[in-house]
Amino acid sequence: MALNLELLRHIRPMGDSDLDAVAAMEAATYPDPWPRQALAYEALHNPVCSAFVVEEEGAVAGYAFLWVIFEQAHLINIAVGQAFRGKGLGEALLAHVLRYARARGADDVHLEVRETNEAAIGLYRKYGFTVLGRQDKYYSDGTPALMMHLSLPMAPS
Ligand SMILES: CC(C)(COP(=O)(O)OP(=O)(O)OC[C@H]1O[C@@H](n2cnc3c(N)ncnc32)[C@H](O)[C@@H]1OP(=O)(O)O)[C@@H](O)C(=O)NCCC(=O)NCCS
Repeated sequence: MALNLELLRHIRPMGDSDLDAVAAMEAATYPDPWPRQALAYEALHNPVCSAFVVEEEGAVAGYAFLWVIFEQAHLINIAVGQAFRGKGLGEALLAHVLRYARARGADDVHLEVRETNEAAIGLYRKYGFTVLGRQDKYYSDGTPALMMHLSLPMAPS
């Protein structure tokens, strides 16, 4: 499926009023979810973090958290609610954060993903991420992580 450009218009910065929905989605998504307080810190207070939500019919359907530290960006969390998956929203969020990272001056994006997470790995590979390495027992349940990387294309001059 090609990127649905219309979905990019449904992405906006995360605000205080999104946190309940994001925390509920986070808890339903991960075995080791970030607590609401950590989500709030990253979204609202961490100066190196930018957080976004994607909406569907006015409701929060997914979110992403990105750190940009000088030329290095790190995608620290991206998720789409179970009911909204498979419709291009994750791809729209990823395309948005990659464009945002580039605009903020990042040259590289790194991330970690569970080795068993076929959907996320498929999404990252579709956007050109490659595996840099693997870390055993990275997650609290013992699942290994793949360390993935993407070099961002230079902005046209
Ligand atoms: C990973 C995730 C964000 C993808 O979101 P999504 O909205 O369902 O994905 P999209 O519909 O935008 O799909 C985009 C691409 O992702 C890949 N993909 C999505 N679901 C997939 C699946 N079940 N299996 C393999 N690849 C998949 C495909 O490459 C797809 O492109 P295609 O449609 O051309 O095949 C979503 O599955 C999710 O929230 N998972 C739980 C949270 C998570 O694991 N986050 C990543 C942490 S590292």
